[in-house]
Amino acid sequence: MHIGILTGGGDCPGLNAVIRAVTLSLIHGVDARVTGIERGFLGLLTGRARPLDSDAVIGILAQGGTILGTHNRCDPFHYFAQGGADVSDRALQQARDWGLDALVVIGGDGTMAIAHQFQQKGLPMVGVPKTIDNDLPLTDRSFGFDSAVAVVAEALDRLGTTARSHGRVMIAETMGRYAGWIALEGGLAGAADAILLPERPFDVDAVARFCAARQAREGFTIICIAEGAHAAGAGLTVRATLADSPDPLRLGGVGAWLAAQLQPRLETEVRATLLGHVQRGGSPTPYDRVLATRFGVHAAQLVRAGEFGRMVVLRGEDCASVPIAEIAGRNRPVPDDHPLLLAAQGLGIMLGTTATQR
Ligand code: F6P
Repeated sequence: MHIGILTGGGDCPGLNAVIRAVTLSLIHGVDARVTGIERGFLGLLTGRARPLDSDAVIGILAQGGTILGTHNRCDPFHYFAQGGADVSDRALQQARDWGLDALVVIGGDGTMAIAHQFQQKGLPMVGVPKTIDNDLPLTDRSFGFDSAVAVVAEALDRLGTTARSHGRVMIAETMGRYAGWIALEGGLAGAADAILLPERPFDVDAVARFCAARQAREGFTIICIAEGAHAAGAGLTVRATLADSPDPLRLGGVGAWLAAQLQPRLETEVRATLLGHVQRGGSPTPYDRVLATRFGVHAAQLVRAGEFGRMVVLRGEDCASVPIAEIAGRNRPVPDDHPLLLAAQGLGIMLGTTATQR
């Protein structure tokens, strides 16, 4: 049995833990040959790969990033380097030339959409859900999320002490694309006073009134805002557009936008911090190391059982799998009745409108 592994899309803490777990499980379980394909689907087009064995994965469990490299614009069905041409047959031929029996792809919704198309063309696929955004449907968690939340929580702790010292409004902008999971869980963990999510368009005047009321009582305010959050009636704040990318919009800047809106409405100083890629870098938390390892072991079990076209998921405490087709191109917003949202409401955290203002 010869199995390829690749990591696609943005990097994320825990990718190496999955690579290690898949490799060790396949070697110990069925003495498989394992090949690591470099820079995601780009390596399948350019023929760049390296053998993976026990030695190759020593010491990588706690390493951030991905030892294989990744690419977030390479979709062989719309190849950015050839004007969006479909070059998937070339990738398929490369997989055949290498003698791959199947491919384990570790990625988010875009990577799963590509994996689904290759599965339909006859290349057996197993998916492993990766994203700090935690926005993949049908899985309770993706690995990487816990590590990102830990960064946000620490940032809010640090912003909190300086906010209190100066009596300021401090805004921290998180990643998360179109879902508010990182801002919600990170905001709760870091004692944010207001949490603004893409799922709940906010009212700038209501946020300003909330900050003014806190200024009189507590003297400072911490706002945790997701990059995809926006004021009611306003659009997303887009930092850049990459037309040839599977996800062309690069979000970012809504924290600074909100600061500019609040400042003229408040007497206190308002400052914004963009947390950015620090949320994605560095070593995975112990929770993510274990989750990523469990996902890798489960992916290897699916390969051994010949259960292809499926992606590993977490359901409660257990690993299971779902058809990749059910994941491809979909995301998972924070539902209105999510227990964390209800907990935030119960604490009196401002969630963007007057309804939850304390
Ligand atoms: O999907 C993960 C993520 O980190 C998002 O939270 C963020 O919007 C995006 O990737 C950033 O992508 P890039 O690294 O290409 O700017």
